[in-house]
Amino acid sequence: MPESITITDNRTGQSIEIPIENGGVSSAAWEKLLPGVWFHDPGLTATAMTESAVTYLDGDAGILRYRGYPIEQLAEESTYLEVAYLLLKGELPNQTQYDAWSSEITHHTFIHENVRKRFLDGFHYDAHPMGMLVSAIAALSTFYLDAKEIYDPAAREKQIVRLIAKMPTLAAAAHRFSVGMPFVYPDNELPFAANFLSMMWKVAEPHYKANPALVRAIDVLFILHADHEQNCSTTAMRTVGSAHADPYSSAAAAAAALYGPRHGGANEAVVRMLTEIGSIENVAPYIEAVKSGKTRLQGFGHRVYKNYDPRARIIKKVADDVFEVTGINPLLDIALKLEDVALHDEYFISRRLYPNVDFYSGLIYQAMGFPVAMFPVLFAIPRVSGWLAHWSELLDQDGKIVRPRQVYIGEPERKYVPMDQRES
Ligand code: ACO
Repeated sequence: MPESITITDNRTGQSIEIPIENGGVSSAAWEKLLPGVWFHDPGLTATAMTESAVTYLDGDAGILRYRGYPIEQLAEESTYLEVAYLLLKGELPNQTQYDAWSSEITHHTFIHENVRKRFLDGFHYDAHPMGMLVSAIAALSTFYLDAKEIYDPAAREKQIVRLIAKMPTLAAAAHRFSVGMPFVYPDNELPFAANFLSMMWKVAEPHYKANPALVRAIDVLFILHADHEQNCSTTAMRTVGSAHADPYSSAAAAAAALYGPRHGGANEAVVRMLTEIGSIENVAPYIEAVKSGKTRLQGFGHRVYKNYDPRARIIKKVADDVFEVTGINPLLDIALKLEDVALHDEYFISRRLYPNVDFYSGLIYQAMGFPVAMFPVLFAIPRVSGWLAHWSELLDQDGKIVRPRQVYIGEPERKYVPMDQRES
């Protein structure tokens, strides 16, 4: 059977055969046969915007791999910094490469004093930390003028290292500001995740020592959130990057997309939902409200996973490890009951709605003491390595500027009517 499709224009009888390559068909042939007829695809649900070698995702089978490595193995055996290297460079580092990479990242964790003192301190006292983070990432582009040298390999590498390294510092700074605590400088004796927890929680002790189980849990959560192929924020990164904006401006756009409750804000929405439900007895009426379309079950459903999100499975295990240290989050019982009811309910079964990565991550973050508003920030810290891997890939592909078409459904041409002649 030929690996191709044939399209016939019934207006002219002309046909064109297009080969299917790597599961995709090129739009160039479509455009040749049908000039001026656009493929109408709201939400790009059937459009592959790019070829990519970073992450493989099979939503029907519930498979996620970074550069070919199953997420389960990475979560079990790797560290976030190693995964960031893998995403960006395509291969796992050897020991020498890893040591150099880790040292580079560690030596770029500090932020310019003006970013904190003048920029972050200028926010209103109750600013949302994710709003602060989005703005701070964009502001970094004004501090590193070589950021514009996107085709200079050394300059590109430098911005990548800076962004990955400074994300935890900016994230913790946003939190400390929002609770009125003094900023904590990075402690570069500590590994990445432990350093972040030190900047978050240190009070007066000379060295903050986080519980190793919690450090590992954060590192695993960072691994799970590091990339997820062409999601909304990565598409924002690629779209802005395709205009050859600097990586900070592109990453700020990506972070802004992640701020939305349909994307990175969903774990925040899950905890708010569980708090609103309040007790096991309210689960059934809540499910009925979801089914009647009054609300959505937050942390359920996914554009591409029509099966259990493999990250949700790993997170459930991380939750057990964290709760052993912190005590059980009282919302867990409600979450487990919701999951159980939904997984046996025809509404959710027929729509193939399963828990996604956000269903349990919020409970873990809350048990560890993170305020709800920090949840999307925690997502953004590791996702920056995925954004940068896609951005770098895009530049190497020398891709076109993103400029989709539209199907116009507005008025045809009409004549301007002066104000005094318009109907009142
Ligand atoms: N609760 C109830 N019904 C849902 C849910 C949900 N969480 N998600 C989808 N549905 C229903 C829709 O109402 C629709 O039903 P219909 O066919 O009767 O109209 C059907 O399932 C398909 O839904 P769409 O909105 O078309 O699915 P889409 O792929 O566009 O949406 C999304 C995906 C945005 C993630 C959606 O499932 C949702 O809003 N989930 C809740 C928010 C959430 O958890 N987001 C996190 C995603 S993961 C991440 O970004 C890291």
